[in-house]
Amino acid sequence: MSQPVSKNITWHHGNLTAEDREKFLKSKGCVIWFTGLSASGKSTVAREVEHALVENGIFATVLDGDNVRHGLNKDLGFSPADRTENIRRIGEVANLIAQANVITLTAFISPYKEDRDTVRALMPKGKFIEVLCDASLEVCEKRDPKGLYKKARAGQIPEFTGISAPYEAPENPEIVLKTGEQTLEESTREVLDYISKL
Ligand SMILES: Nc1ncnc2c1ncn2[C@@H]1O[C@H](COP(=O)(O)OP(=O)(O)OP(=O)(O)O)[C@@H](O)[C@H]1O
Ligand SMILES: [Mg+2]
Repeated sequence: MSQPVSKNITWHHGNLTAEDREKFLKSKGCVIWFTGLSASGKSTVAREVEHALVENGIFATVLDGDNVRHGLNKDLGFSPADRTENIRRIGEVANLIAQANVITLTAFISPYKEDRDTVRALMPKGKFIEVLCDASLEVCEKRDPKGLYKKARAGQIPEFTGISAPYEAPENPEIVLKTGEQTLEESTREVLDYISKL
């Protein structure tokens, strides 16, 4: 990993441990990292999980691909280098939010295995939960809720994941959701069940 540009920076440690925070706040943070093709269901499932958690008084939030590209990452495109930088920044932000004991759900295609593994390595063991939204390209393309596949097939979107850019599925994700076959309720329940055992 690259080093900070500045040499005159010192890490300032707090005197509140992660264990203290969990004890006092009675809530645990983690990152639930959804990955999968466009239209595989990352945002839809993440929003449902967020809703169910918050309804039960549990702090949760979603970091969503397009939304983040409107602000924090508006300077980034879809080249391999920009995609990597996109995920690096999201990983840093997600880790910070999780450290504040919030269940942080991220919904990014995040096509590169190495980029996701970099985020995993940033976090304490067990705090990064990778969720593969495993719907086939055929299903995703048929859904095409944003009309993106149609544009990509017409050559109007270069470097589109699954069509003209690669997607590297995780080898050992904590959760695999068969979002091409299951109902939204079933996918949501699987994630909530996993969270309830953390
Ligand atoms: N089991 C399921 N889980 C999630 N979504 C489902 C499921 N079954 C059907 N869908 C539908 O599939 C579509 C998934 O779209 P969604 O925007 O959530 O995908 P995404 O992975 O976030 O895509 P993008 O990367 O483009 O943001 C929605 O229209 C949703 O209603
Ligand atoms: Mg989405």
